[in-house]
Amino acid sequence: MSKNFYITTPIYYVNDRPHIGHAYTTILADVLSRYFQLGGYSSFFLTGTDEHGQKVQQAAKERGISPQEQVDQYYVRFQELWNQLHIQYNRFIRTTEKNHCKYVQKILQELYDKDEIYQETYTGWYSVGEERFFTQDELVDGKDPISGRPVEWLEEKNYFFRMSKYQKRLQEHLHSHPDFILPAFRRNEVIGFLQKPLKNLCISRPRSRLNWGVPLPFDQNFVTYVWFDALLNYESAVTDQTFPDGSPIAPADCHLIGKDILTTHAVYWPSILAALDRPFPKHIFAHGWWLSGKKKVSKSDINASNPLDYISSYGTDSVRYYLMRDMVQGQDSIFTEESFIRRTNSELANDLGNAVNRVHKFILRYLNGEVPQPSLMNQDDEEMRNLAQDLIQKFYTLFPKFLITSLLEEIISYLRQINRYLEKNAPWKLVPSQSNSKSDQKRLASILYCSCESLRIVLTLLSPVIPEKASKGLTMIGAVPQISTSSLEWGILKGGEELIKGDSLFPRI
Ligand code: ME8
Ligand code: MG
Repeated sequence: MSKNFYITTPIYYVNDRPHIGHAYTTILADVLSRYFQLGGYSSFFLTGTDEHGQKVQQAAKERGISPQEQVDQYYVRFQELWNQLHIQYNRFIRTTEKNHCKYVQKILQELYDKDEIYQETYTGWYSVGEERFFTQDELVDGKDPISGRPVEWLEEKNYFFRMSKYQKRLQEHLHSHPDFILPAFRRNEVIGFLQKPLKNLCISRPRSRLNWGVPLPFDQNFVTYVWFDALLNYESAVTDQTFPDGSPIAPADCHLIGKDILTTHAVYWPSILAALDRPFPKHIFAHGWWLSGKKKVSKSDINASNPLDYISSYGTDSVRYYLMRDMVQGQDSIFTEESFIRRTNSELANDLGNAVNRVHKFILRYLNGEVPQPSLMNQDDEEMRNLAQDLIQKFYTLFPKFLITSLLEEIISYLRQINRYLEKNAPWKLVPSQSNSKSDQKRLASILYCSCESLRIVLTLLSPVIPEKASKGLTMIGAVPQISTSSLEWGILKGGEELIKGDSLFPRI
């Protein structure tokens, strides 16, 4: 089985600054990439910006700058945010890169030569507001169904990709690959969509309407439709790279997207790949939306949504943790500062922070700042070890299915078990003193050893989500921060390791 993992995020439009929704997708991709590494995979993580098209041209116009100025100013905002969120991508693509544009033209020419692309005169109701055509059925009271503005009957020449040819092939693929689209209920949506006849896809825009795009190689009067250009990034970005074992990066193991762009990824993209005789991605995972009240958090909405505010008030790892923990993958979730604070206080400050700080301080004060030697385990100790081993097994079944929320639940539940174990075995009652017996000292050593080892496994399993704090926490209990399968077993600490002094891991908000 191949131990390579290629994960992508959507490439984001640079019409405005990034918000919590973009942060969510990118953090989830980063977390998955790190979990696959922890599980023994080589991971390649691609993200970037979608810089052509109507939205970007429009934003530039509104700001009174050129599209090129617009994209140059705004892609940086995404990169800066990813740096602040400690996103470890392998490649950041901008679709205005020369190599990408050449790649798009090469593919277009190939499809044109194979008669997969043809020209046709298109007539329909055109909405200037929405910059698109609607069919008669789509109109509401004879007007644009989205903006409610008048439409005009327009005749326009355009180029079309013969997408309808691939309807059957897609249906078969969905049938024989039940995990192609995840979660399962999204797959059903796509199956439903494919029950209606699939139309051919208009892949051009006349220059008179839109100038900011990749020119069609076979007709300079047109630029490429932005989605056709954008989807190809998943291949163009990685043509000159390989995994360490020499195998090519594409096709993707996981295209991570929001549910808003399911059809383009689950229908357009595989059709294009089919026309090119190329393999499909393994999985398309569509997550839900962060809502503000009842509405999707969007770029035009300036409430509750600037991730930078949260990072500067509460720290990067708290933001990463909240977003990963509070949204069940696939579902929508409401973003509020209150739920953020509640989650941070109860799980990071209380459950995790307290356990680490307690053990850390105790060992510094009473045990010379060294992890004690393990000695004979009693039943409680053995239970902690067995539960840790169960947790590791669960990790191996959950991460390949991208079930991060469930994994976090399992980790937190084990962490609570550690806290109960500390309460029950009360090492503070065995504090070394003259009256203490030898057996008390041995018992004390065993409790603290087991606590360090349990916390080491918890922190290692949390490190993809809270990398900075997990590293710090690990050094506070005498362990070496390490993302590798070899750290996922009981008994890595041998006793005698020195703790590095640290203060409270997650202070209460
Ligand atoms: O669609 N909740 O770019 P885009 C969760 N350029 N995720 C959200 C979100 C929210 N409220 N809002 C946005 C595009 N997202 C195209 C993609 S890919 C070849 C081209 C995330 O800037 C989510 O991942 O509109 C969504 O799919 C993406 O941002 C849309 O970003
Ligand atoms: Mg969008």
